[in-house]
Amino acid sequence: MTKDIDYKHFLAEILIDEDTLQKRIDELGEEISKDYRGEDLLLICILRGGVMFLTDLMRRINIPHAIDFMAVSSYGVGVRESSGSVRITLDLSTNIKDRHVLLVEDIVDSGHTIASVLEMLETRQPKSLRVCSLLDKASRREAVVPLHYTGFEIENKFVFGYGLDLDEFYRGLPFIGVVDTDKYTPPD
Ligand code: PRP
Repeated sequence: MTKDIDYKHFLAEILIDEDTLQKRIDELGEEISKDYRGEDLLLICILRGGVMFLTDLMRRINIPHAIDFMAVSSYGVGVRESSGSVRITLDLSTNIKDRHVLLVEDIVDSGHTIASVLEMLETRQPKSLRVCSLLDKASRREAVVPLHYTGFEIENKFVFGYGLDLDEFYRGLPFIGVVDTDKYTPPD
C-alpha cells in the first residue's frame, strides 16, 4: 500500500529539484505577465495534477487574473497509458466567451487530454486559448498540441511529485521524482 510507505522507498532519483522548479516558474510567470498585460486573463487548472503548479505560477503572475478549475477523466489509478478519449467530470464555473484563457497542466504526455480539452473549450469561443504545461514528454506525443509555455521537456520516465501522483499520493512533494519501478508495483 503506497500510502503507508515513505516516498523515498519508491524514489529512484530527483529529476527536477525544488530550486530548479521554482526558478523556472519565476521565468514563466514573468513571461505570461508580459504577454497578457492589459488583457482579461483567466487561468484554468486541469485537476488534479495541475494544482501545485497553478498555485505557484499565479503567485508569480504580476497582472490581475482570474482562476477556474476543470477535471476530465483519462487515466484510472495505476494505469499509465492514455485512454485516448476524455470527458469532463467537473466543468468550469466561468463563462470563457471572449476571455483570454490559459490552461495550466502538470504534464503533457500523449497529448490526448489537452487536445480534447482544447477542442471542447474552443466551442465556447474564448478570445484566445493557450496551454502552459510544467512538463512535456514530447517523445510520447500522439496528438498534435500546441504548447505555448513549457517548464521542462523530460524523457519518458515514470515521474511523481509536485502535483503528479503515485496511486493518488505524494502530489504535495516539492520536487519531481522518478519512480523506481523495481520497488513500485502498480495496483491491479
Ligand atoms: C495526467 C496529467 C494530464 C494527463 C496527460 O492526468 O495531469 O492531464 O495525464 O496525459 P496525456 O497527455 O497522455 O493525455 P491524470 O489523468 O493522471 O489525472 P490527474 O491530473 O488527476 O493526476
